[in-house]
Amino acid sequence: VPGYIGIDIGGTNLRGALVRANGEILSRFRLKSAISNGADSFLERLTEEVVKLTEDAAAYGLQVQGVGLGIPGLIGNDGTIHSSVNLRPLEGMNLSRLFSNRFQIPVVSANDANLIALGEVWAGAGQGMQSVAVITIGTGLGSGLVLDGKLWTGAGGFAAEFGHLTVEPEGLPCPCGNRGCLEQYVSAAALSRYGGGRTPKELALLAQAGEPVACAAFDAIGYWLGTALAGLLNVLNIEGVIIGGGVSGGFDLFAPMLRKTIQQRAFSQIAEQVLVCQAALGDDAGLVGGALLAAGKKIG
Ligand code: BGC
Ligand code: NA
Ligand code: ZN
Repeated sequence: VPGYIGIDIGGTNLRGALVRANGEILSRFRLKSAISNGADSFLERLTEEVVKLTEDAAAYGLQVQGVGLGIPGLIGNDGTIHSSVNLRPLEGMNLSRLFSNRFQIPVVSANDANLIALGEVWAGAGQGMQSVAVITIGTGLGSGLVLDGKLWTGAGGFAAEFGHLTVEPEGLPCPCGNRGCLEQYVSAAALSRYGGGRTPKELALLAQAGEPVACAAFDAIGYWLGTALAGLLNVLNIEGVIIGGGVSGGFDLFAPMLRKTIQQRAFSQIAEQVLVCQAALGDDAGLVGGALLAAGKKIG
């Protein structure tokens, strides 16, 4: 019986899971990405975890037949990491090649947010939607676009870098080289900055209790994300916007300002049609998306 491994390499967390062909997760791991010690020790840790998952597979009577890797950045069709602004040491590497040589099984790499989008469309909040933007807010801000039932990958395969949409022309510098990118205004670090240096978790507790600075921090997330999304919605007139990633744990805290901003800025005819909701699979979306892509599930 075939099993698949999905891996989600985040700017902060590294996760992986053993997944059945139907998307069911059987076992998983999660650790800090800790790439500051260099790419080699990072890849060694990841390799150890993949070995453990293949052992788990044997215990379940499964044989791992493919791995799907989600990587934050611009990933070429052959798996080459062309850019990774929040995980620079990975740039130029090809983890598909590395892991397929090491494990002798097919390994496919894709943009992390694209895999999260596929996971949500295949098994989460996007099921049945033909056109949807899935946004993931964590260390970075990523997105995957499904248009007319197909993942939109663009001319070079690098499409949907919504986190690097300019929202403030002379704004904060971004590691991508531009200024004023959405990611500098909507991310875990941005939320902490608005909240006087507190962590997103602390801020969520404070905002739930009505503490004004914490409430304002979530409003700022809703304001900036809503501003950018209003423009995207005017361009695409999609059915749904699904929001995941670590910061989406505070969805209920920023959703009112997000919805208000969209209503104020987008055409009412367009804003009225769109469903804005929280991701259903949480941290599992990218794992399920990666595993099912490795299983050969068709994108549309
Ligand atoms: C990267 C994207 C990635 C996102 C979320 C952004 O900074 O440019 O490729 O999907 O972060 O990790
Ligand atoms: Na993407
Ligand atoms: Zn940028």
